[in-house]
Amino acid sequence: MSNTIQFGSITFPRNGVLASGILGVTGASMTRVAESGAGGITCKSISKVRRKGHPTPVIQAYEHGLVNAVGLSSIGVEDTMEELRHVRQNTDAVIIASIFSGNIDEFGETAALIDDKVCDAIEINISCPNVSDEFGLPFCANPQLSGQIVRRVCDNTKLPVLVKLSPNFPNIGILAKTCQDNGASGITAINTVGPGMLIDIHTFRPKVSNKRGGVSGPGILPVAIRCVYDIYNAVDIPIIGMGGVTTAEDAIQMIAAGATVYGVGTGVLYGGMEIFGNINEGIEKYLSEMNMKYGELIGAAHRF
Ligand SMILES: Cc1cc2nc3c(=O)[nH]c(=O)nc-3n(C[C@H](O)[C@H](O)[C@H](O)COP(=O)(O)O)c2cc1C
Repeated sequence: MSNTIQFGSITFPRNGVLASGILGVTGASMTRVAESGAGGITCKSISKVRRKGHPTPVIQAYEHGLVNAVGLSSIGVEDTMEELRHVRQNTDAVIIASIFSGNIDEFGETAALIDDKVCDAIEINISCPNVSDEFGLPFCANPQLSGQIVRRVCDNTKLPVLVKLSPNFPNIGILAKTCQDNGASGITAINTVGPGMLIDIHTFRPKVSNKRGGVSGPGILPVAIRCVYDIYNAVDIPIIGMGGVTTAEDAIQMIAAGATVYGVGTGVLYGGMEIFGNINEGIEKYLSEMNMKYGELIGAAHRF
């Protein structure tokens, strides 16, 4: 594997992106993830101003992953830029600012506040499944509306714009194509699956306070691989492939489906921060055994 990976106009110093929402609030934790081998870090999705999430408990583990309903708590753009400045000064990782909002105007205003000297890209989160009580259906349920948001964000930033998509609505390929047609430079897929639910069998109370939550971790890997495969068929822009990746074999499948780089969220909680270094080592060993170049692996499953 070559040391750097070209992702449109963005150069990743190495493979592996920290997914939004996991260790993505403080500059110190994001810096540690980058130092442990991640090529890119994504901050937890931020709103224009500070907002509270759902009351606890917001995360529950089960045998194959997590159910979470954190509810998009956010420290706001200004404080997050301060934290990301720390990451910029201390690492070579690509910095992705994930943003969300409840309306198109505010998406544009939030994008305009992202410092292009600190961040390398903006990721638009239009796919969070566990805030429907506050925002109605996620925007990505409606491709036309999604396209308008992408266009508005692109009009308000010089940075490349990535769009984070959900597996929970029909035809993720059409949605990805609409994002590309409206100016997106890349796609991040997937956000959590569901929503799902876990129930305490003694009290019969749903285990997260919001009752429903997004499902992540190893159990969603096949859904994520299929989504990346469908997106690759539909667009020409690069993809960050995530959802259930915990091993080099998972990441290799994601890349063969069409991802240019892989991402890990829940896997960091399973495998620690060194998961990126371990996966990258595994990919390198695999490529040397297969006598393949990294570029030949991207989308390799599409020859069938
Ligand atoms: C606790 C938690 C919080 C998350 N918060 C966000 C978020 O703020 N923004 C976002 O776009 N995705 C968020 N996600 C989704 C992840 O970024 C990722 O897309 C998803 O979990 C699938 O990847 P994984 O199986 O590797 O975790 C969150 C996931 C978890 C588990």
